[in-house]
Amino acid sequence: MSEMIKKLTVKDVDALIEIARSSWKWIYRNIYSNEFIESWIREKYSKDKLLNEIIRSQSDLDIILLGSFAESTMTGFIELKTSANKAELLRFYLKPECTHKGIGKSLLLEAEKIMKKKGIVECSLYVHQQNNVAVSFYKKNGFEVKDIDGDDFVMEKKYKDLQ
Ligand code: ACO
Repeated sequence: MSEMIKKLTVKDVDALIEIARSSWKWIYRNIYSNEFIESWIREKYSKDKLLNEIIRSQSDLDIILLGSFAESTMTGFIELKTSANKAELLRFYLKPECTHKGIGKSLLLEAEKIMKKKGIVECSLYVHQQNNVAVSFYKKNGFEVKDIDGDDFVMEKKYKDLQ
């Protein structure tokens, strides 16, 4: 089944929150308690905040928010924030059962096409040092560890050469 990637719309907001919740409970199961994850999702993934970010992405402002879909069901999303010629990858979560099938790579490539059009030369991200799945994914997709900040690796990918 082929995956479709598109900008998220306001009607996708509930699916996005559910994917974030299930992905967090899977990938951070040995790192954070269930209570911590629930309160994080409540606070950081509030509908109001997300609707605002979806609209900023739809309006082509400072947010890039794309979803992957199988038929009409959302399987994952990627969110970046741009500022001048730099971007930060803020959130990148797939349904656990949809990982390891190349969907993440497709989402990142689509985001990179948009970044290229916007003249982005560098993308950074924070990832928990114990999140081996994501750290290995990012390394395979051109990101390098540049720093350590608390529990996180700070990773970076440069795009200058591609332009
Ligand atoms: N188990 C182990 N490694 C995995 C898995 C898995 N289930 N899934 C992906 N990987 C890694 C491996 O390095 C794999 O390479 P391999 O095939 O040689 O083993 C590579 O990713 C495969 O790439 P894709 O299939 O394109 O990756 P995927 O579609 O799974 O997307 C993503 C990657 C977004 C990290 C996804 O696995 C996911 O949602 N993980 C859980 C959430 C998460 O950790 N998000 C990142 C948080 S950091 C942030 O948001 C800035």
